[in-house]
Amino acid sequence: MHQKLQNLKNEALARIISAGSAEELEDIRIQYLGKSGQLAEIAGQFKNLPPEERVETGRLFNDIKTAISSAIESSPLKVVSTASVSDFDPTLPGIKPVIGHLHPVTQAVNEIAAIFEKVGFTRVRYPEADWDWYAFGALNFPKDHPARDDWETFFVDVPPDKKFGPLVLTPHTSNGQVREMERVKTPPIRMINIAKCYRRQSDISHTPMFHQFEGLVIDEHITIANLRGTIEYFVKSFFGPNRTSRLRPYHFQFTEPSFEVDISCGICNGKGCRLCKEGWLELGGSGMVHPEVLKAGKIDPQKYSGFAFGWGVERCYMMKSGTKIDDIRLLYDNDIRFLNQF
Ligand code: DAH
Repeated sequence: MHQKLQNLKNEALARIISAGSAEELEDIRIQYLGKSGQLAEIAGQFKNLPPEERVETGRLFNDIKTAISSAIESSPLKVVSTASVSDFDPTLPGIKPVIGHLHPVTQAVNEIAAIFEKVGFTRVRYPEADWDWYAFGALNFPKDHPARDDWETFFVDVPPDKKFGPLVLTPHTSNGQVREMERVKTPPIRMINIAKCYRRQSDISHTPMFHQFEGLVIDEHITIANLRGTIEYFVKSFFGPNRTSRLRPYHFQFTEPSFEVDISCGICNGKGCRLCKEGWLELGGSGMVHPEVLKAGKIDPQKYSGFAFGWGVERCYMMKSGTKIDDIRLLYDNDIRFLNQF
């Protein structure tokens, strides 16, 4: 019976392939798969088989039945036979697939990376769960410095490393500074480190996970003028040619001197309005790399100097004119009605 089944299959497939019309195909279907077709007839003989052969023959029978019916279904004649040519109107508009786009934060990350890469910065990424040493210690934070609280850092529940201390979820991208010095070894360094950061916070302008971009430039003769120029370049490229920036004295452990960077308000152009009050919006921190940080990265502070800055991606994106986002958490609610707008 096995041989009979195989022959039947070969014969049926050959006839399906060479069939010339939908009607012929339908005849073939009836002959083989129909109620009193050839397969049905074979099925009728199953009862005469010795019981031990029934299972295997049954399986072969099913395989062959499926092979024949799928050959019929996928025949080009079949398509014409189900939808008659006169029903098909090629002038009707097709079904448009929904076109997605990158998340607005990803768009901002890409744009920021491109702005810095254009002037010779190298984009890098470092671990998001990093040692206390890279997140704080190497950045000149004394052991008991309250910054570890200020940043409201998440500590990972693993045994601390003997040399590098506890493991934290990076509270800022500044952990990339000394890691980059270790990677490059000899300046020049022009790093742009864009990564996720984590802090215990959630309100209208904070989410527990957010992104920062950290710039680090180290070379001979790097001065505040280079920092000023780079900031202006970024502000004009990202926010628009009419915006400008200013530095305000500030304090960070890892820069000396340190500055807060403000950008002129896009609505009143620095004159003062309801949104900004006095004409300026705070962008983030910056400064000249502290000699102790250079030393932690095995770079000679006598020979080299550098500047650094670290700003929030979401914050910058929200400050860009035209986005009108007034609650940062909207970016992470995954509401497609919101995201579709960008
Ligand atoms: N790491 C700081 C923060 O998260 C931002 C910062 C300030 C980064 C000054 C810098 C810098 O590189 O020079 O608030």
